[in-house]
Amino acid sequence: MYAHQMLFLCALIAFVIAFAHPLRAQSGDKAYGEYLSSECVTCHQLSGNFAGIPPIVGWPEESFIEIMNEYRSKKRDNAVMQTIAGRLSEKEVAALAAYFGSLKPSAK
Ligand code: HEC
Repeated sequence: MYAHQMLFLCALIAFVIAFAHPLRAQSGDKAYGEYLSSECVTCHQLSGNFAGIPPIVGWPEESFIEIMNEYRSKKRDNAVMQTIAGRLSEKEVAALAAYFGSLKPSAK
């Protein structure tokens, strides 16, 4: 292989690592969010009904992430949610935001 071909290949790999990956990581992985949501829906209703615990479906992803971060930084005061949010990585929160945000509360 010629040197300039190697250079091109390296540049291509560097480009993919530097740009493509963060772009994909920015918006949450919905399928992963659905997988992670099994814990949440033991308390939060998927239907969007209140049932003593606030519904979390159909929110804009940014608001969802912001609230989870507020529990994580203990700005929001709820021991259960602080513990749960504290265990989640940024990627997991983004995935949950994408999944729950994609659901519509079912009218009842
Ligand atoms: C053990 C029950 C329980 C589990 C499990 C649980 N939550 Fe919660 N969650 C609550 C309660 C109770 C509140 C209301 C807390 C408050 O008043 O701040 C809440 C509040 C929230 C809120 C804010 C709702 C609002 O209207 O302000 C979000 C967002 C949220 N939870 C997301 C999640 C996610 C995502 C998961 C799963 C990773 C999860 N919760 C798991 C009980 C739970």
